[in-house]
Amino acid sequence: MVPYAVLSALLPLLALAQDGGITGPTTSPDAAGYSCDPSRCQLPNCHCASTSPPGGLDPSEVPMFVVFTADDAIQSYTLDAVNQFLAHRRNPNGCPIKMTYYTSLTYTNYTLVTDWYVAGNEIADHTMTHVGSPPADEINGNLITLNALAGIPMSAIKGFRAPYLNYTADTLKQLYESEFTYDSSSTASVPVTDPNTDAYWPYTLDNGMANNCLTIPGTCKGEPKLPGFWEVPMYAFFDRNGAAGPHLMDPWLDTANGASSVNDSATLEYMQNTFTDHYRGNRQPIGLYTHPIHVSRTYPGVTVRASTINMINAFLDWAQEQQNVWIVSTEQLLDWVQHPIPVSQLDSVASLKCTTPQVDENAQICNGIPRNEAGLLSHCAFSDFPFYTCYGCPSEHPTPANPNPPQDSESTLLASAVSTSPTILLAVKLEETDVTYLLSSPSPR
Ligand SMILES: *[C@@H]1O[C@H](CO)[C@@H](O)[C@H](O)[C@H]1NC(C)=O
Ligand SMILES: *[C@@H]1O[C@H](CO)[C@@H](O)[C@H](O)[C@H]1NC(C)=O
Ligand SMILES: *[C@@H]1O[C@H](CO)[C@@H](O)[C@H](O)[C@H]1NC(C)=O
Ligand SMILES: [Zn+2]
Repeated sequence: MVPYAVLSALLPLLALAQDGGITGPTTSPDAAGYSCDPSRCQLPNCHCASTSPPGGLDPSEVPMFVVFTADDAIQSYTLDAVNQFLAHRRNPNGCPIKMTYYTSLTYTNYTLVTDWYVAGNEIADHTMTHVGSPPADEINGNLITLNALAGIPMSAIKGFRAPYLNYTADTLKQLYESEFTYDSSSTASVPVTDPNTDAYWPYTLDNGMANNCLTIPGTCKGEPKLPGFWEVPMYAFFDRNGAAGPHLMDPWLDTANGASSVNDSATLEYMQNTFTDHYRGNRQPIGLYTHPIHVSRTYPGVTVRASTINMINAFLDWAQEQQNVWIVSTEQLLDWVQHPIPVSQLDSVASLKCTTPQVDENAQICNGIPRNEAGLLSHCAFSDFPFYTCYGCPSEHPTPANPNPPQDSESTLLASAVSTSPTILLAVKLEETDVTYLLSSPSPR
């Protein structure tokens, strides 16, 4: 049980989560000044911004992707919140749903990151301490700490979302330097029914940004040029006010159609209408971009209306009743865009397959499966937020200046235990040596 004093220390999280609003178009064709020659920019490593599906596919051959993301700290409360929408669902191939968690580390409970990753979800970077205009160490430190305390291979952390969606040209350049695959902080803010829509399929920045051009200095008109680095736009929903009524993150917290209070029926209506516009058009993805803390039923002090939870599930039920609708992580979406396969052949796509770890039930091993990790977790009793890790507590709280403080002796034992046992699941790339170590079972205690 977490003491109440600790819980009240978590409340700042709510303030952090109030981000991601837009009030109107963030792009115009003139501001974009974008040009790209598709004959010189070809998949899988180059892709021009386009509203048409990749690979020249006809929309009828294109899966309708619903990207599901969450931002901020990973805690039991936030995973409970996501689970109430996804845990009971399957994609058309029968596999459980995977999603992307843009993780910031203040208040994160590292064991749960390991578990979430091993269950097949994507762990991505949202800076260490949730800063809007991040220096490099906020971005890179996130990778190092997630690797050290949650065992996430650095190579698996491919994506970034800026806190407050407040990215800059420098942020994009830093991500490129740090060898990220993609950013997903920009907004597609003009409806697909408008001839000037900026709802581009994900594209590479070989020719600069093509959307979100009205507000961010040093982007668009050919800048910044980052060959092979992807931008995955966040696609807005639109209420009856069309381009003047956009809804981006947590649309269920917004009022719709200019009303003065939240109306779940009105939210459902415009979410369905925007989905249908995409589905009947060029099938650009849509996204549920969530701050799960707002829809947590287990976080003390937060009250969310049951009707809101039910509405979100009703939307997903309704979407899934239609043909060729897939709920995916950003990484899964991007993999399909790089290798566009017609819907009839999706069964062959590896990234959409189920993840079924083969682990001896009785093995004692840090592998992200609670049964196997029983007895191996350390409780790191830091006063701001006590967390758990299977890799040993750090001597002090990780910070951007020191993202990987020494871990206790037990962890040294764990992290150095190299084995070729078939129970191995997690590969940890230790950043000092850049050698891949395979974690295995320590001797039972
Ligand atoms: C932290 O993780 C531990 C171990 O999985 C779990 O027992 C605990 O409930 C979690 N607490 C929070 C607040 O996430
Ligand atoms: C957003 O970025 C700008 C430009 O770097 C910065 O001045 C501002 O403080 C940032 N806002 C937030 C909320 O971090
Ligand atoms: C809520 O939205 C629905 C659907 O648009 C509408 O029929 C209903 O009148 C709205 N309720 C209120 C109280 O405005
Ligand atoms: Zn955030």
